[in-house]
Amino acid sequence: MSDAKVTIRMDGPVAVITIDNPPVNAMSGAVRKGVWDHLHAALADDACTAIVLACAGRTFSGGADITEFGKPPTEPGLTTLIDAVEAAQKPVVAALFGTAYGGGFEIALGAHYRVGVPTLRLGLPEVKIGLVPGAGGTQRLPRLIGPVAALAPIVTGDPIPGPQALELGILDRLTEGAVTEAAVAMAKEVAGQPVRRVSQDDTLVRSVDMAAFDAEAARLVARFRRLQAPAACVEAVRNALTLGFDEGSKAEREIFYRLREGDESKAQRHLFFAERAALKLPGVAKDVTPRPVRKIAVLGAGTMGGGITMSMATGGYDVTMIDLNPDNLKRGLDTIEKNYRRSQSRGGFTAEEVDAALARIHGSTEFEAVSDADMVIEAVFEKMELKKKIFADLDRLCKPGAVLASNTSSLDVNEIASVTSRPEDVMGMHFFSPANVMRLLENVRGAKTAPDVLVTANAVGRQGGKVPVTVGVCNGFVGNRMGAARLRQVHALMLEGAMPQQIDRAAKAFGFAMGPLATNDLAGLDIGYSVRKERGESMPVHDAIVEMGRHGQKTGRGFYIYEDGSRHAVPDPEIEALIRRIGAEHGFTPREISDQEIVERLVFPLINEGAQILDEGIAHLSSDIDLIYIYGFGFPLPTGGPMHYADSVGVAEVAARLEGYAEVSGNADLRPKPLLARLAAEGSSFAAYDKGRM
Ligand code: NAI
Repeated sequence: MSDAKVTIRMDGPVAVITIDNPPVNAMSGAVRKGVWDHLHAALADDACTAIVLACAGRTFSGGADITEFGKPPTEPGLTTLIDAVEAAQKPVVAALFGTAYGGGFEIALGAHYRVGVPTLRLGLPEVKIGLVPGAGGTQRLPRLIGPVAALAPIVTGDPIPGPQALELGILDRLTEGAVTEAAVAMAKEVAGQPVRRVSQDDTLVRSVDMAAFDAEAARLVARFRRLQAPAACVEAVRNALTLGFDEGSKAEREIFYRLREGDESKAQRHLFFAERAALKLPGVAKDVTPRPVRKIAVLGAGTMGGGITMSMATGGYDVTMIDLNPDNLKRGLDTIEKNYRRSQSRGGFTAEEVDAALARIHGSTEFEAVSDADMVIEAVFEKMELKKKIFADLDRLCKPGAVLASNTSSLDVNEIASVTSRPEDVMGMHFFSPANVMRLLENVRGAKTAPDVLVTANAVGRQGGKVPVTVGVCNGFVGNRMGAARLRQVHALMLEGAMPQQIDRAAKAFGFAMGPLATNDLAGLDIGYSVRKERGESMPVHDAIVEMGRHGQKTGRGFYIYEDGSRHAVPDPEIEALIRRIGAEHGFTPREISDQEIVERLVFPLINEGAQILDEGIAHLSSDIDLIYIYGFGFPLPTGGPMHYADSVGVAEVAARLEGYAEVSGNADLRPKPLLARLAAEGSSFAAYDKGRM
């Protein structure tokens, strides 16, 4: 932390102030003070005619020091510093490379000129942690490039590449060469000339096309329907149109503080840290590095194989998708192309990006094509005998050191590894459907998986746009195992008297995009049915519906009726009667069940099972479970995930409610598991539990 250095040197008449605060030159208190002091020294120095603001290391600046969040601010604050940069009587040129994010971008906006390299990425990612930019970004960017163009980077938080930044007028100059030298050259050219202070220039905000502004704002906010921060970003930018810079900046800070104190941003910050914590694996030394991966072979061109291939190709890997069945291979490759083109037509990719990704994808019907792969991801049919045969073949054909991963959703990874002579190279990489969209990746650690294999899977997963979480081997791993606990409650609630539409309505009111029974209908009821039959298990209501030939949306009937291929679920009195009959057969007298009970019996069992999973060491941190439920199971984002939500309700309260429901329903499944009971008794929390394990 205290490695921060800010230096100044003269290059002829130009003062070069350099921030050196590894790893990302965060704008910590020490950095702000250093820049402030050197800036004032340069302004006081008659020999100095212009100033360059530069950074050492790999990148310009990652922005505010997030570890200072919640601590009392030290002077000068970032806003004060940026205002001082802009107010300077000598031209200030920012030399931008790597990334300039958040406060790093905002200080560059305070400078009078910006020079950047083509690989530069500029961004205001605050919205991704539920905030608005807080140091003038929402006021200066609209004045610099026009309010309509400023909306997208602020509302989405997506970075702007260097060449686009030049086109938009954020950069004054793009250089292929050394950026600090180019900035010094520019500083020499502009020395002595009057400077443009963006905050004082209202030309672009005054001439805004309001209809275009409103349309762009509506388009962007629609992408994040249920979140507050994107709409707050629009509000902040809109202030730039109606208020002067000082008033607008004041309002920006007020919005920033309001959001920062809210549950939603707290949840998003929790997830931000959770993502990083999930990469630190227990028992794996910090200096373990990933194995080099360039070529990936994906086995199976089905639903999952296709999605996995897309993620990896988008991430820049060379991917060979192998399917022994030529028709399936062709269908798989065609689907990939169709999916890419569809995303392109919706603005998700440019045509060049799609062409480049497709060029990285190869198809093969020859199993031998695995031989030069650095990593193999198997996604063939879910049959143990088949997987064992395949892994024995992989053992024979793959080069030494190749990572051998299975996408199995339910089979024992240790058993699969046991057929190879290199179980240390074998693991599970459990993607979620559709794998090109869903961000969760459960990396399953086998008993013998080598640390560097796990680290490799994390690195590859992140490069492929995923949120990797390492889990242990058990039935269903983490996400599906918790889902099974919830499904048992959905079923029990029906037997006790709740109808599908009431359960689904309550779940939606809590924030799920879809209720559990509508989701069952969408996924198809027959899959769970055949798994239960194989295992000798039963779920009387679900089973009876499948046995009536109702498999869900695909057959037009399931828990609901779907008329003529429509996705609109219509409640069916016949199913209600069926549920009541089965309930009575199991000895239940239907009772009024409140929406509150429904929600709590859908959510608290997830927490309970999550606690058990932690206790068994299948997941390391409760925040890992939050990532799994947010990124793989559509748990409402503002809650921060089930375990974080448990802390906000109070663990003791969750345990007491579960006890109560176990009593009312006679369902012992609801009894608090030992870890939950212990944390409740100690008045502790999952956050405290995690702290003790980091
Ligand atoms: P799928 O049936 O759509 O595709 C399987 C493909 O594997 C077929 O194209 C088949 O021709 C090919 N295949 C079969 N034997 C092969 C062999 N020896 N060599 C090469 N290719 C072969 O299946 P899906 O849904 O993609 O599932 C694949 C795996 O992913 C399974 O283990 C499944 O449990 C797992 N999974 C599935 C999820 C889902 O939602 N569908 C989610 C997460 C994991």
